[in-house]
Amino acid sequence: MTEAILEVDALERRFDVSAPWLNRVIERKPRRTLRAVDGVDFDIARGQTLALVGESGCGKSTIAKLVTGLHAPSGGKIRFNGDPEKMQMIFQDPFASLNPRWRVGRIVAEPLRTLNPQAPEAQVTARVEELLDTVGLSPADAVKYPHEFSGGQRQRISIARALAGEPEFLVCDEPTSALDVSVQAQVLNLMKRLQREMGLTYLFISHDLSVVRHMADVIAVMYLGRIVEIQPTADLFATPLHPYTRMLLDTIPDLEAPKRDRAPMGGEVPSPVSPPSGCSFHPRCPLAFDRCTRERPEREPRVHDRRVACFAAAENTDV
Ligand SMILES: Nc1ncnc2c1ncn2[C@@H]1O[C@H](COP(=O)(O)OP(=O)(O)OP(=O)(O)O)[C@@H](O)[C@H]1O
Ligand code: SF4
Ligand SMILES: [Mg+2]
Repeated sequence: MTEAILEVDALERRFDVSAPWLNRVIERKPRRTLRAVDGVDFDIARGQTLALVGESGCGKSTIAKLVTGLHAPSGGKIRFNGDPEKMQMIFQDPFASLNPRWRVGRIVAEPLRTLNPQAPEAQVTARVEELLDTVGLSPADAVKYPHEFSGGQRQRISIARALAGEPEFLVCDEPTSALDVSVQAQVLNLMKRLQREMGLTYLFISHDLSVVRHMADVIAVMYLGRIVEIQPTADLFATPLHPYTRMLLDTIPDLEAPKRDRAPMGGEVPSPVSPPSGCSFHPRCPLAFDRCTRERPEREPRVHDRRVACFAAAENTDV
């Protein structure tokens, strides 16, 4: 096993979502806490990609913000065994994260100037042109503004800016979700090529298993703030262990048998302010039995790199 660049241990993040104080007093309402991230652990080996997948609201972005230091944890630990200066983030909406009043050249140059304030102007310009070329844009694009580009090109600008900071670790929060499918594939291929060439490590977030299938070495499936299953990618697709993972897999269009009817995802995700008792997936689970409503399944100790939090699946992990 290669060295872990990131180790996350029993990570928790709660948000106070109480009504304002006066309303609480008048209406006699208690404080309300939302458990966005509720005891999460995973490691990422250097040079690999770990993907977090799950439906909206399961806590993916909160983990991204905890890892990058934008949020403080309410509990647990994050250990980053790299240079914190060399961690960068790529967001879903490249337009919102690019300053609309700056030319692309200035956007990409900013991290270069931060790294090396003494760098001569000609050197910065040359490096900006090189970075634009690396991400498949033209050096002439440096004089344009973000609004002059398509969504896919804007995401390339974000990637060039991230690379300018000479990263070793990138947190990518739904980097291609806003893009058309064909453009999405191009940007994902670019990210894979850069990873190979530069030895980058990715924490890659997506709600879409078909996207992470081609990106991730290891996939962690999240439900209501917890990881319910974690496996190397090929194993997860070959032998999904958790009923929720199987439900997610059933919603992926099947390339070999596109005519086969796909089951729509059953049920709503409950609120993380008042999660169901026991296994929080039990109201949607086709395999639920009495124990599931009373007890919460903890993730099993690692068996051949896979761990699952489900009473029914734990009995079948020796497949
Ligand atoms: N600053 C905040 N204050 C209160 N609640 C928050 C805050 N940030 C996130 N939450 C809540 O925490 C839960 C997890 O949110 P998060 O954004 O991490 O989910 P996500 O998996 O990234 O969802 P999506 O796929 O929609 O991006 C949600 O219920 C969300 O409403
Ligand atoms: S613990 Fe029970 S409810 Fe939860 S996923 Fe497993 S079988 Fe379903
Ligand atoms: Mg999110």
